[in-house]
Amino acid sequence: MQGKVAIVTGASAGIGLAVAKAWTARGGKVALVARTASKLEDVVREIGKDAAAAFPLDVQDLRALAALPGRVKEHFGRLDVVVNNAGLNHRGPVDRHDPLLLADIVTTNLTAPIVLTRAALDHLSSPGGSIVQVASIAGMAPIPGEATYSASKAGLRAFARAAGYDVEPRGIHVGCVCPGPVDTGFLGDLQEVPDIVLSQPMITADDVAHAVLTCIDERVDEIAIPARSGRLATMAYLAPSFAQRIRPVLEKRGAKNKERLIAARRRSMS
Ligand SMILES: NC(=O)c1ccc[n+]([C@@H]2O[C@H](COP(=O)([O-])OP(=O)(O)OC[C@H]3O[C@@H](n4cnc5c(N)ncnc54)[C@H](OP(=O)(O)O)[C@@H]3O)[C@@H](O)[C@H]2O)c1
Repeated sequence: MQGKVAIVTGASAGIGLAVAKAWTARGGKVALVARTASKLEDVVREIGKDAAAAFPLDVQDLRALAALPGRVKEHFGRLDVVVNNAGLNHRGPVDRHDPLLLADIVTTNLTAPIVLTRAALDHLSSPGGSIVQVASIAGMAPIPGEATYSASKAGLRAFARAAGYDVEPRGIHVGCVCPGPVDTGFLGDLQEVPDIVLSQPMITADDVAHAVLTCIDERVDEIAIPARSGRLATMAYLAPSFAQRIRPVLEKRGAKNKERLIAARRRSMS
C-alpha cells in the first residue's frame, strides 16, 4: 500500500482513526473526513502532512460528499481506497424518536456511503481499487431498540455485496466489515445499550482496523468480528425461533457484562 491513497470517513476518533493510523503506518496516505476540523488537524499533526490531509465535512451533506473523491485526487494525485466508516445511532424503541432523527441514521449510515461509493468510482484506481463499508453485527441480526440502525447496516451490507458484483469486471473490490461492540465513544451511555449487544465480547478499534486492512489486502466480501458473533447472528437471522430461544440467555449475559463494564468505567474515572 506504499503511496496508495485512502479516504476514511469518521477518521478523527475510534475505528476511523485506528484505520487511518494503520494505513499510514504501512506507507499509505489518507484523506481524513469528520465534521470537527480541529480534531482532524490534530490527527494530521500526529501522522504528518505528507501522509495525511484533513477534509472536514458532514457526510449528511451529500453534495459535498459527492465532490470529495475529485478533491482528494487533486490533492494527492490518485485515489485507491475508500473506507465508509462514519456512523450514527439513536438508541431506544422506534416510537421514542422523532421521525426525522431516524431518517438521519439512514442518511449517515446508508445514503452517504452509497453516494461516496458512486462518486469514488469515477476516480478510483482501476483495476485495484477497493471500497470498504463499516457495517455492524446489528446489520446481520436485527436488534430491538436499534431498529433503524440495524436496518441501515443491513442495507449497507446488501449494497456492498451487489455493488461489488457490479464493479468486479473493472477490478474494483467492495467489501464490508461487521463489528460487534467496540470500545469507542460510539457506545455512549452504556445503560442505554441493549443488553443483548453487550452479550458479545467487546473488541477494540485496532481490532476492527486490522479487519478493514485484511478486507482490502485479501479482497474479502465480508468480515464479521468477532467471527463467532457473526456466526451466531447469522443463525439467529436465519432461524427466528432459535433467536427467540437464545435471546433471554444472551440478555442475561449482556446485563452482567454491562454491570462489569460500567463499574470498570467508574473505577477508571475515579
Ligand atoms: N463502536 C461500536 O460499538 C460499533 C459497533 C459496530 C459498528 N460500528 C460502526 O463503526 C463506525 C465507527 O464507529 P466508532 O465506534 O469508531 O465511532 P466514534 O468513536 O464515535 O467515532 C465517530 C467518528 O465519525 C465522525 N462522524 C460522526 N458523524 C459524522 C458525520 N455526520 N460526518 C462526518 N463524520 C462524522 C466523528 O467525528 P465528528 O463528530 O467530528 O464528525 C468521529 O471521527 C460507525 O459506522 C458505527 O456504526 C461501531
